[in-house]
Amino acid sequence: MTTASAPGKIILVGEHAVVYGRPAIAVPITKVKATVTVEEAARGAGCVIVASDLGRTIRVAEAAPDDPLAAIVRLTLAHFRVQDLDATITIKSTIPIASGMGSGAAVSTAIARALAAHLGFTLNNDVLSGLVFETEKLYHGTPSGVDNTVIAHARPVFFVRNRLIENFAVKSPLHLLIADTGISSPTKATVADVRKAWEADQEKYDAWFRQIGQIALMARAAIIAGEHSALGSLMDGNQWLLEQVGVSSPEIDCLVQAARRGGALGAKLSGAGRGGNIVTLTTEQTQDGIADILRDAGAKSVIAATIT
Ligand code: MEV
Repeated sequence: MTTASAPGKIILVGEHAVVYGRPAIAVPITKVKATVTVEEAARGAGCVIVASDLGRTIRVAEAAPDDPLAAIVRLTLAHFRVQDLDATITIKSTIPIASGMGSGAAVSTAIARALAAHLGFTLNNDVLSGLVFETEKLYHGTPSGVDNTVIAHARPVFFVRNRLIENFAVKSPLHLLIADTGISSPTKATVADVRKAWEADQEKYDAWFRQIGQIALMARAAIIAGEHSALGSLMDGNQWLLEQVGVSSPEIDCLVQAARRGGALGAKLSGAGRGGNIVTLTTEQTQDGIADILRDAGAKSVIAATIT
C-alpha cells in the first residue's frame, strides 16, 4: 500500500489576471490536504477510484474521457507506459471543494504521486505539475496553471503563465487567515464569465489586469523585504480591482470589511471569487482576534496559516 498527499493553496495576489499572462503569487496551505492511498487489487479488477467524500466510486476503464479523476490516473499510467493496473485508489481530502483552495489540483497531484510510488517510479515536480495541468483543463476550461504549480512544488511561487516558476524568500513569516464565505463557487463558470466580459471590452479589462500584474510585482518585493503593511495595502488594492472585474460578492465584501475593521493589514478574495474564501494578512498578535471577528461576521470556517 502506498500513500501520498498534496496541500491546498491560496492565491495572495493576481487571480484572473494570471489567466491573461500577468503574474500571480500563490502559497501552499499545508493545514489542509488531499491524501491518496493505492492498494493492489485482484487480478482483472482494473483501477477503481473510491472518493467517499464525493460519494463516488469510479471504474477508470468505464469513466468518461473528461472525468478529471479518471483522467489523472490514465495520464499517469500513460506517462510511465503502464497499460494495465489492478488497484484501488482511495481519496480523502480536507480541502474545501469549489472554494479557491485548489482541491481539484491537490487531489490530482496526490493521485499521480501515489500511483508513481506504487509503481516504483519517481515523478519530478515539473512533470507532475504538467500532468495535473491537463486535468485542470477539465475542471477549469482555461486554467493559467498556477494551482497545479504551487501545489506540486509546495512552495510559495511567483507564477507567470508559460514561464519557468520563480521562487522567492519570505523574509519574515506571513500570518494569514483564510475565511470561508460558505458559498460554493466553481472556478470554471467564473473564469468563463470573466472571459465573456473581457471579450466585450478588452481595453478596460486589460487595463485592470495590467494593474493587478503590477500589484503582484510590488507584492513580491514587499514579501522579500518583509514589508507587511505595504503587502496588506497591495492586497486591498487587488481586492478593489477584482471588484471592478466583477468577481466579488456581498458575502466576500462582508468578510473583507470585517477583517479590515478588526485591524487586518489587508484582505481580499482568493481564487475565482463570487464565493469561496477570502485571505487576510494579520500579524502574529492580531491573528486570533481577527479570526474571532471573521467567525462573528459569518465565516463558515477560518484557517490560520503561517507562510515561511
Ligand atoms: C483559480 O485558483 C485562479 C484563477 O486565476 C484561475 C486560474 O488561474 O486558472 C481564477
